[in-house]
Amino acid sequence: MTLQTLLRSAAALCLTAASLWAGDLRPVALRTEYLVNPLGIESPAPRLSWQVESAARGARQVAYRLRVASSAAKLAADQGDLWDSGKVVSSETVNVPYAGPPLRSSQRVFWTVEVWDSESVPGSLPFGARSESASWTMALLNPEDWQAKWISYRDTAPLHTNRDSLFLPPARHFRKPFTPTKPVARAFLHFSALGIAEFHLNGVRVSDGFFESGWADYARRAYTRTHDVTKLMRAGTNCLGAIVTDGWYAGYVGYGVLVGYGPNKAGRYFYGKTPALLAQLEIEYADGSREVIATDPTWQVSGDGPIREADLIMGESHDARRARQDWCSANGAADWKWESAIPAADNGSTRATFYDNCGAREVDLGFRPPPKLQAYTAPPIRVTEELPAKRITEPKPGVFIFDLGQNFAGVARFKFKGPAGTRVQIRYGEMLHSDGRLMTENLRKARATDFYTLRGDADGEVWTPRFTYHGFQFVELTGLPEKPSLDAVTGLALHNETPLVGEFACSDEVLTRFWKNTQWTQRANFIEIPTDCPQRDERLGWMGDAQVYVRAASCNADVAAFFTKWLDDVEEAQRDFGAYPDYAPYPMGHGTPWKTFGTAWTDAGIICPWTVWQVYGDTRLLERHWTSMTRFMDWRAASTTPDGLGTSLGNPWGDWLNTGETTPVEFIDTCYHATTCRMMAEMAEALGRRTEASNYRRRGNEVKAAFAKACLNADGTLKVDSQSAYVLALAADLIPADQQAAAVARLADKLAKNDFRSTTGFLGTRAILPVLSAHGQHDLAVRLFQSRKFPSWGYEVEQGANSVWERWDSFTKEHGFNGSSGTQNAAMNSFSHYSFGAVTEWMFRDLAGIDTDGPGFRRIVIRPGPPTPGSNPDVPPVSWARARYDSPRGRIISDWKRDGDRLLLSVTLPANTTATVLLPAKSAEPITEGGKPINQAAGVKFLRVENGRAVLAVEAGSYQFAAKL
Ligand code: BGC
Repeated sequence: MTLQTLLRSAAALCLTAASLWAGDLRPVALRTEYLVNPLGIESPAPRLSWQVESAARGARQVAYRLRVASSAAKLAADQGDLWDSGKVVSSETVNVPYAGPPLRSSQRVFWTVEVWDSESVPGSLPFGARSESASWTMALLNPEDWQAKWISYRDTAPLHTNRDSLFLPPARHFRKPFTPTKPVARAFLHFSALGIAEFHLNGVRVSDGFFESGWADYARRAYTRTHDVTKLMRAGTNCLGAIVTDGWYAGYVGYGVLVGYGPNKAGRYFYGKTPALLAQLEIEYADGSREVIATDPTWQVSGDGPIREADLIMGESHDARRARQDWCSANGAADWKWESAIPAADNGSTRATFYDNCGAREVDLGFRPPPKLQAYTAPPIRVTEELPAKRITEPKPGVFIFDLGQNFAGVARFKFKGPAGTRVQIRYGEMLHSDGRLMTENLRKARATDFYTLRGDADGEVWTPRFTYHGFQFVELTGLPEKPSLDAVTGLALHNETPLVGEFACSDEVLTRFWKNTQWTQRANFIEIPTDCPQRDERLGWMGDAQVYVRAASCNADVAAFFTKWLDDVEEAQRDFGAYPDYAPYPMGHGTPWKTFGTAWTDAGIICPWTVWQVYGDTRLLERHWTSMTRFMDWRAASTTPDGLGTSLGNPWGDWLNTGETTPVEFIDTCYHATTCRMMAEMAEALGRRTEASNYRRRGNEVKAAFAKACLNADGTLKVDSQSAYVLALAADLIPADQQAAAVARLADKLAKNDFRSTTGFLGTRAILPVLSAHGQHDLAVRLFQSRKFPSWGYEVEQGANSVWERWDSFTKEHGFNGSSGTQNAAMNSFSHYSFGAVTEWMFRDLAGIDTDGPGFRRIVIRPGPPTPGSNPDVPPVSWARARYDSPRGRIISDWKRDGDRLLLSVTLPANTTATVLLPAKSAEPITEGGKPINQAAGVKFLRVENGRAVLAVEAGSYQFAAKL
């Protein structure tokens, strides 16, 4: 035992004794760049985060020490040989950058954190509480680290030019046998793909991730991945293999077929004709020497495998008769035709005319190496939940429909039994027609059909598609020889594994269900990018949807790493003239060259980074995109009218899907300009860019003045008299304080005159409840929230929604798929569209009452929002609500309930945070905590009574408040 370990054990004993009477702060939940033990980090200074836990009230971290070591053994011996921060007097626990010497490619790094609380410092205990160890590995950092060459198969297929038929080439199996020469200590696989690559080592999948290496604008950049394959290595001959399919690179993307976009209007090949692969297995031998197995033309490739078709949107076809267990071995699958792979460039050039709304242009679909390789920063796409089938129906003889009980996105696991050669057709749908048939009209040109041909295994055969996904609740099987049993289909929900951090419930079960719907719909759409919908031929990163939903998304899941990745795609898609486009990535132009953007869609490039910073305190993200954001703001300034007002220059989506009241895009544009100026000013301040901050602030004031002159009446009403106009102007703080009451009164009046129904679209709906709650109309907000009338969240649930629908009336019991009017277009009708689910933000912040006070939840606001009893003539107003939110600093709970004329509030705040609790109460007198008057409660300080609420300063810990209402 070293002296250090001895000392540490002694100190640990003291600590145990100390923790009986003092703090017991423990560091947990270690993350590197937001991920748990990630592989393939590219940042030279990865940011380390942890949380601290303690049962004690007011627990604080007063110091930390990070040790970063080059091996687990060194770390165990307390040697931070790469970096030892020493004891740093700081309460920081989030995003502390590694500050040791540069790390090299593929390096494995181990770390721990030691923390001291306020009790341990004065006693100057030499050791704090130590975390478990965590680790990360570095990606390949320099272009010259890649010995691998881009390879491909020889692609002799003619370019598909027919929009009326699909071209779905088979997956290619690549492989490379190799023999390690010495005992192996470790092996890492680094790869990138133009297309999708699924790697196998010695016949075993190297990861459970889907759709790797990811979607970027391949003409500029491709993502890389790193996997630890040490455990799959064996003595003697090994074989590394990869199944490669078209993916976003060469396959069908978006509504390309529908509108005739892409090369030769075929709807596919948006980035190139033939998928390509770049891979490098780095073997570290026990003696410290290294060997690299890299893609080159010595690899073999075959197109004879079982996956006959594989397309993200159209589906996958699997002929199990062709499957060979041993394909990923030296001479396996001998009956497949194997050829040498070729350098990807050897497929030469393929010229085509590319069509989209930006006009026709000549393109070359031949291989070009992506100029930049970048490590993927989001969590992998994985199966996160299994959904067993609930029931089977047979609407027509031999057609079996499985109901999985929940609309979601992903794939399914099938168990089939039957004679060899039996071909099962598998279709997917979100809904059923009234006669029991699968509803597929809303898939538009997405074939969304898989096929499986049985090999005839007497014990049955199990299959899951891996190169496609669908948005569905129902699965239809045809072609089976007999009625399948319920376990023939199990749904597998897929998405980037953003940890689910939020939970909400309230006394109104219909709205609790709606919250759950937002979680499901978020999961269904956070697949590679925040998509608009997972089922039809679209699945694009529509920016308007993303910006209205991003804050809600953060309530449901930890989306920091997911947005970090997508915001790179967003910046990459920025137009030359500065606007952010309608969606990102941007493979095809949706507008003429100067109309590739839309007000409020384009603003996502500011709103999303600002929101991620607010929730996670991430300033590095702001630095990363600062130049791009300022370029956008310059363009925005140049796009205003000489009077400083907004314009309608791009695609006029406006308050998309409003119900009956349109708001001019010019008006909306002014509101968004003001909002982005405010956000830029705040971000500039956070980055210490004072001049820019004051410039943006001044510009925001100019917009406000221009707005007041052009849009505001003297009595506080607006010249544009729509609900959304009031909501957006108030949300953008464009109405001077002394006129706000009048504006809010007008909004309330308009709602009342409209039978308490909103008319707001995507933009207005996001802000309507927050604006009402913030301006003294919380009862009205809760009333709208609980409405069951069209259009409302409750209406949707009562029509049977278990996910968030694109339209409030995507299905009605009265008119089916034709909406409440009976005239709706069933094709433009997604049942998995999160925009109207943005209300989740209000549920957490204004109803349950959990919010951050400044960036990153270091300071918290707890503001429970009970409505007044009797304030809703239609349904009992919400009488209790609770939310749990696992913030970047730990778990927060706000759980309130009305008990007669009392409000009971149970609050949990993570260690090392403080909160302002705003408790509805007339005075401090009747307030108790844990049954005692609050002035006797440890960790609570009464500050004042303000606007009918007692304002309390509260330390970390758990509390039970009771107040008289
Ligand atoms: C998408 C929307 C998107 C819109 C633009 C639609 O096709 O599904 O959610 O924002 O286009 O208006």
